[in-house]
Amino acid sequence: MERGKFITVEGIEGVGKSTNIDVLVRRIEAAGHRVLTTREPGGTPLAEDIRNIVQHRGDEPIPEIAELLLIFAARSLNVNNVILPALEAGTWVISDRFTDSSRAYQGGGRGIPMETVDRIADWVHGDIWPDLTILLDAPVEVGMERAGNRSAPDRFEQERHDFFQRVRECYLQIASNEPSRFVIIDTTQSLAEVSAEVEALADLLTGYDSP
Ligand code: TMP
Repeated sequence: MERGKFITVEGIEGVGKSTNIDVLVRRIEAAGHRVLTTREPGGTPLAEDIRNIVQHRGDEPIPEIAELLLIFAARSLNVNNVILPALEAGTWVISDRFTDSSRAYQGGGRGIPMETVDRIADWVHGDIWPDLTILLDAPVEVGMERAGNRSAPDRFEQERHDFFQRVRECYLQIASNEPSRFVIIDTTQSLAEVSAEVEALADLLTGYDSP
């Protein structure tokens, strides 16, 4: 059985991850593949509990390293209980965020050394890395404005503008370090233009000739 492909979608808040994941899923399914979507932190019942702890903590401060470890604990659950079994069964997996988020938010944003993040990543998921990572990119102002128009902001969304600036810059740096894994899509384009780019990428991966 041919192993499924592992695709991750990354970017700061408000760049349109959910919409574009829907486009991606539909296109890959149309080419005849089974697709499973997941998200991080989360994706399994226990990992979703951890997501809840990280996003809606009470008054107790969470040290940056505890936040990193909680997120990687959730990732270990998601990789072992959801992602790997699906890939091995030939199902394609699309994850809304993965370790590049930890690099960009905990590394770039909060200032945890990248070597620390990468060492834990190696420990948690070894050579399990996405076949393709789509980085949806837009200036921080654009993303924050779009995110602000949605549900009540969580604790991450309340972070300052310069935090997101560091996160965005870190994403762009990671992408330029690994050009063969990353595709950057400029989401200041129209929705139709962005969707067309996402569909073209899906077609490239599936070898599907669109009519
Ligand atoms: P979202 O997936 O709905 O955008 O929310 C998840 C939040 O968690 C988002 O603000 C980014 C943050 N996050 C990290 O800080 N590190 C991580 O490794 C992941 C997966 C998410």
